[in-house]
Amino acid sequence: TGMFTYDPGFTSTGSCESKITYIDGDQGILLHRGYNIADLAERSDFMEVAYLLLNGELPTADEKAEFIHTISRHTMVHEQITTFYRGFRRDAHPMAVCCGVVGALSAFYHDSLDINDPQQRMIASHRLIAKMPTIAAMAYKYSVGQPFMYPQNNLSYAGNFLRMMFGVPAEEYVMNPVIEKAMDRILMLHADHEQNASTSTVRLAGSSGANPFACIAAGIASLWGPSHGGANEAVLNMLQHIGDKKNIPAFLSRVKDKNDHTRLMGFGHRVYKNYDPRATVMRKTCHEVLASLGIKGDPLLDLAMEMEQIALKDDYFVSKKLYPNVDFYSGIIFRAIGIPVTMFTVLFAVARTTGWIAQWREMIEDPQSKIGRPRQLYTGLTERPYVPIHARK
Ligand code: CMC
Repeated sequence: TGMFTYDPGFTSTGSCESKITYIDGDQGILLHRGYNIADLAERSDFMEVAYLLLNGELPTADEKAEFIHTISRHTMVHEQITTFYRGFRRDAHPMAVCCGVVGALSAFYHDSLDINDPQQRMIASHRLIAKMPTIAAMAYKYSVGQPFMYPQNNLSYAGNFLRMMFGVPAEEYVMNPVIEKAMDRILMLHADHEQNASTSTVRLAGSSGANPFACIAAGIASLWGPSHGGANEAVLNMLQHIGDKKNIPAFLSRVKDKNDHTRLMGFGHRVYKNYDPRATVMRKTCHEVLASLGIKGDPLLDLAMEMEQIALKDDYFVSKKLYPNVDFYSGIIFRAIGIPVTMFTVLFAVARTTGWIAQWREMIEDPQSKIGRPRQLYTGLTERPYVPIHARK
């Protein structure tokens, strides 16, 4: 059996070597391949960040054009997948639908399932990144009873997604460049975050040799929970539930009550104990987007800012080092640009697919990697005699 360390929740276990993302939780630093997230969010775009995560360097102009071309070629889904959607209830949560559809991709793309073939690994990576916006938008269209929109490859990654979400075949879709840019930035801010629960899930699933489509479906499942990616949806529901600034103190006393399990959603992080640099960019983007959309004095943004101010001065949050995380402000931007609340976590999944894929490929290519197999501390009964059914009580 041998020795092992007991570390519930893996608070102090390093599970792999990685060159992709660096986080300094005390300083509030996040780097992708050495580049600061604030620089990337300000000066790059999502396709460049995806390329960076996958390949280790920012692309040259030629490399970027080629990458975009490659991704665009894979944006459609197999037509048979449209019938797959019709098996779901219309009122299903789009995360449930995405989990199922992404898992089902391995039933359609048989020529990119061989994880030992670098070419097939690459095609699977491109397919997943390219198809996620299509799959996500189809989940939304199905839920509102509108026809699916085919992708349009002359649009940007974010723009294409917006058109597939909000466009209809009956008329031409008019792109709002402010919304397109905001969407692109949000995607960048969610692209990767080293060994969080969903990424570790993708690696663990992949460590057995499972195919990449199945692994990403596992990642989506893990992301869905409210402690992780589901927090962006939970934050908005929380703010709407609180409703008014005057209700903040009563809400916070529930949060601080040991016997009440209410948490301030969008606050706290396992690694960041100073601030979440993504939240800083998100807050700024939130103001910019609302201003350029001409939205003055959004009540939910006011409520969120007031909540942040109060919490940051409150002993409970200060002593526990709880700060706003990436999910605190993202929902307010999503809402301002018309994204329905149930799609928030789906968008997180669309963006994080690049990180998951980069991490999965790094693991497959790492000669040190082996199947993930944690141990346990057994606290059950010791061996005892078998009891036949007539003697059981
Ligand atoms: N509200 C109130 N109390 C909190 C919160 C919160 N949001 N977060 C942590 N605490 C308290 C917790 O009760 C505990 O107190 P005590 O030591 O007295 O038992 C202490 O702070 C440490 O919390 P923990 O749960 O042991 O810390 P963790 O590292 O296991 O959890 C977390 C990290 C993100 C799950 C947690 O902070 C949380 O539940 N936050 C709310 C959900 C959220 O916003 N999640 C998004 C995370 S960032 C992006 C992402 O991954 O999607």
